[in-house]
Amino acid sequence: MEHQTLPETAECIRQVRAWLAERPAQPLAYLHTFGCQLNVADGEKLAGLLQAMGFGMTDSVEDASLILYNTCAVRENAEDRVFGTLGSIKKRKMENPGLILCVTGCMTAQQTVAEKLRASYPYVDIVLGSNAVSALPQMLYAHMHGQRHAWDISVSSDIPENVPTQRDSTYKAAVPVMYGCNNFCTYCIVPYVRGRERSRQPAAIIAEVRSLVENGYKEIMLLGQNVNSYGKDLADGMDFPTLLREIDKIEGEYWIRFMSSHPKDATPELMDAILECDHLAKHLHLPVQSGSNAILQRMNRRYTVESYLEKVRYIREKAPDFSLTTDLIVGFPDESEADFQATLELVRTVRYDNMYSFIYSKRTGTKAALMPDAISEQEKSERMGRLLSLQRKIAVENNKRFVGRVLRVLADGESKKRPGMLTGRSSENMLVEFPGEPSLIGQFVNVEILASHSGMVSGTLKGE
Ligand code: SAM
Ligand code: SF4
Ligand code: F3S
Repeated sequence: MEHQTLPETAECIRQVRAWLAERPAQPLAYLHTFGCQLNVADGEKLAGLLQAMGFGMTDSVEDASLILYNTCAVRENAEDRVFGTLGSIKKRKMENPGLILCVTGCMTAQQTVAEKLRASYPYVDIVLGSNAVSALPQMLYAHMHGQRHAWDISVSSDIPENVPTQRDSTYKAAVPVMYGCNNFCTYCIVPYVRGRERSRQPAAIIAEVRSLVENGYKEIMLLGQNVNSYGKDLADGMDFPTLLREIDKIEGEYWIRFMSSHPKDATPELMDAILECDHLAKHLHLPVQSGSNAILQRMNRRYTVESYLEKVRYIREKAPDFSLTTDLIVGFPDESEADFQATLELVRTVRYDNMYSFIYSKRTGTKAALMPDAISEQEKSERMGRLLSLQRKIAVENNKRFVGRVLRVLADGESKKRPGMLTGRSSENMLVEFPGEPSLIGQFVNVEILASHSGMVSGTLKGE
């Protein structure tokens, strides 16, 4: 059955629902999402569609009639995990041919992956291309009509609006503002698997945030691969700082966070908006990737260490306590010891509150995959160890600045290690632990900070 001849989504939902209703018990779906928060947001839409079609959701692979893996391609180990998981499910699928096995997300858009899936995992029933969440009902419709392999690996430029969404939390919500990426950092697969940048209409974003706030959501995370590019493809001159200021006008008790923000496009207007908008969290994630200008150039990042530090200075002069976090890649092709030392120096200068660091992973199809690389894996791991120990030391020192202060915290869950304690995040994104009742989860509380530790601070509840 040709994809083009399939009925529209709403009709497919109706027909799949009628088909499933004939079963003696409600079929259950197991969904596992790998990768970044944008993929998690897609996962919430996939769960919404599955439920609209009549599936119940389960956390147990054994109980599921449909298994869906929403994949990530950013590093090789992310892909290895998916292939490993698909291998481990083979026996179950062979014993139970009625089980529907689906793969979607960023991995599916790569030709090499498609070939490997066809050759080594022919028991996968449905492969749904990247950005194509709203096509899931059509793929299930095709499967229901006997199509043994319902595969569509094209990278869709769809902007999924009005898709039923099953949110994981009742107080924290992710709201994508744009999809895709035009930056083509030389190490990164995302522009190839997610396609070109496209912004959602501001009215749709603002309406979604307003509805979330009215429904009691306390933290809204605006998402895009580079939110600073927001609006460049829209006709009305809208940009990200303006969008932030418009959202900030929505009344209510809530925080706005966003990620990611490419340093080349992080303007004074953006930083002024963060500082001036009451609902904006006092935290900026500004991924630097390397502290060496030579490496930044080979990464095609289009900023220098000096221009990056200028932006850090701008925000710290206005708000010395502002929290900054970053992403760093260790072992980019032919990164020299001097390049790595420059990264350590940058980390010492900026003194980040937190860092996500990754050993460079070669991605076929990217420019960096063709660059010569004489650095051994052992050397890369050793550098990673040095970077992590420097960051740990800085974070412990940084955390001391909170002791004696009262932080506004969104209570987020019970401590796994210490019974009776809750954990939450402050506006600065600091992890905070305090004694409290589980009924406080999802609420803002004030916590007086009494001690700082590695990776978190702790204290006691303080009245309003
Ligand atoms: N768009 C975001 C930005 O530019 O900051 C990043 C999105 S990417 C999903 C998250 C992080 O993964 C990047 O900031 C980078 O540090 C890391 N990353 C991407 N490609 C990588 C690769 N090939 N090897 C190692 N880390 C990689
Ligand atoms: Fe990848 Fe660079 Fe785009 Fe981020 S900005 S998604 S690192 S290409
Ligand atoms: Fe992975 Fe795709 Fe996100 S490659 S990091 S899931 S955009």
